[in-house]
Amino acid sequence: MNLEQEIQRRRTFAIISHPDGGKTTLTEKLLLFGGAIHVAGAVKSNKIKKTATSDWMEIEKQRGISVATSVMGFEYQNYKINILDTPGHQDFAEDTYRTLTAVDSVIIVIDSAKGVEAQTRKLMNVCRMRKTPVIVFINKMDREGKDPFDLLDEIEAELQIRVRPLSFPINQGAKFKGVYNIFEQNLNLYTPNKQYISEAIELNDINTEELDNFVGKTDANKLREDLDLVNGVYSDFNTDEYLKGEVAPVFFGSALNNFGVKELLDCFIKIAPSPRPIEAVERTVNPYETPFTGFVFKIHANMDPNHRSCIAFVKICSGRFERNGNYKHIRHNKMMRFSSPTAFMAQKKETVDEAFAGDIVGLPDNGTFKIGDTLTEGENIHFKGLPSFSPEMFRYIENTDPMKTKQLEKGISQLMDEGVAQLFVSEYNNRKIIGTVGQLQFEVIQYRLLHEYGAQCRFEPLSLYKACWIESDEKDALELFKKRKFQYMAKDREGRDVFMADSAYILQMAQQDFEKIRFHFTSEF
Ligand code: G4P
Repeated sequence: MNLEQEIQRRRTFAIISHPDGGKTTLTEKLLLFGGAIHVAGAVKSNKIKKTATSDWMEIEKQRGISVATSVMGFEYQNYKINILDTPGHQDFAEDTYRTLTAVDSVIIVIDSAKGVEAQTRKLMNVCRMRKTPVIVFINKMDREGKDPFDLLDEIEAELQIRVRPLSFPINQGAKFKGVYNIFEQNLNLYTPNKQYISEAIELNDINTEELDNFVGKTDANKLREDLDLVNGVYSDFNTDEYLKGEVAPVFFGSALNNFGVKELLDCFIKIAPSPRPIEAVERTVNPYETPFTGFVFKIHANMDPNHRSCIAFVKICSGRFERNGNYKHIRHNKMMRFSSPTAFMAQKKETVDEAFAGDIVGLPDNGTFKIGDTLTEGENIHFKGLPSFSPEMFRYIENTDPMKTKQLEKGISQLMDEGVAQLFVSEYNNRKIIGTVGQLQFEVIQYRLLHEYGAQCRFEPLSLYKACWIESDEKDALELFKKRKFQYMAKDREGRDVFMADSAYILQMAQQDFEKIRFHFTSEF
């Protein structure tokens, strides 16, 4: 296979859902199809969300296990599928945001009884920002849930994307009989079974008696009415619109019962994008360019004190990556060789000799990498699109062991490189402020500083609402703002100006009073 064919057949995506929507279950069923696992129940990576939030050591142990399942690669019908796992726990949402920068498309799982939930809404905002194509899978049709049309309306309204059902259910809950696959024009009858995969019945014309024979007259008529309505309300599915992130095809099914999953996967490989061009500061990088380029989107620390190295996950943006190849670490301006890159096939981490655009390779890391770092064959390229989002929780961090000041500095700096949290320094009192998306990160930081760097710290409460990156075309306006809000000004690690608003009201007032200032809620604008 030549380079172009190798890249063309790659499908790299993430599954996202609100905790308990069914992401783990769906992932597992997809792996079953790819032959990557053979029994249901083998994927447990996301069970961390079920542990009490205070017990983060337990969570970290399980996160350690989930390294192997961070990326799950498998072959299906001559496609190379890479599923990127996203942490189920919402305190690790920042990890998920970053993972979304390394995928070419996304499958969103929605619980049919709960509809669109908070976490899904947040993650969809990131997809929308990046115009990532999304497919929606409405799960748990074997349970009583909301009316399918209501769900479709809810998705359009809440996720702010047009939808187009490509399958439609026949009843739900106890009376669930199956789905009609609009995309393939066939009927799938439902039999609850966790391991068995039902065969579709060809049924191009739903107006024949054949349908009545399969599902009974009443349900057949209801399905005909529903499909008429679907065709009347929703315009025909258009792959280009999906690829532009304008319309989301929708499938119905039950992941637990392995129902509707094959239809989803078969449609997915046909319509989902192969690796797409990626924006860098200097130029757009096309995946089919021969020279290798890639960027680090995630760093996974090994919590085992005996094996403390990290793994840097690199998304290959173009060309072919080779083991022992000579690659340039752009930030360090240094050539490097990697003798044991790993890839992730069928839940196993193994050393690989080559990988292609769309793939993820894991590189052993002892503090050389930082989130967002670029590797190339020599060209100076900096990939964009790894924004930090405004944290939601803030604390002052204080040194409690003056003998270990250096260790503390180093520890904080490395943990920030890994993307555990964000660091700001107050302009007003010069104190360090740690910003996170969840309470857990503070515990993670304190624990790791002590165990990995021998440094001790304490957090002090700080009531802030948001950190906003500010800029203005007018230097004077910017200076005036900074002077007036001096008490609330801070710098991020890149030395950019950040306004730490202590309430939604204060932020709103500032936006009103200072029209020439632009307020950004992500670090990339
Ligand atoms: P998540 O990764 O999105 O958090 O969800 P996960 O797959 O862990 O699923 C959450 C719960 O929903 C699990 O039950 C799972 O078995 C159930 N589930 C997933 N898909 C379906 C479905 O199609 N129908 C029904 N009825 N249930 C479904 P649990 O009891 O919390 O966990 P477990 O003990 O079954 O592992």
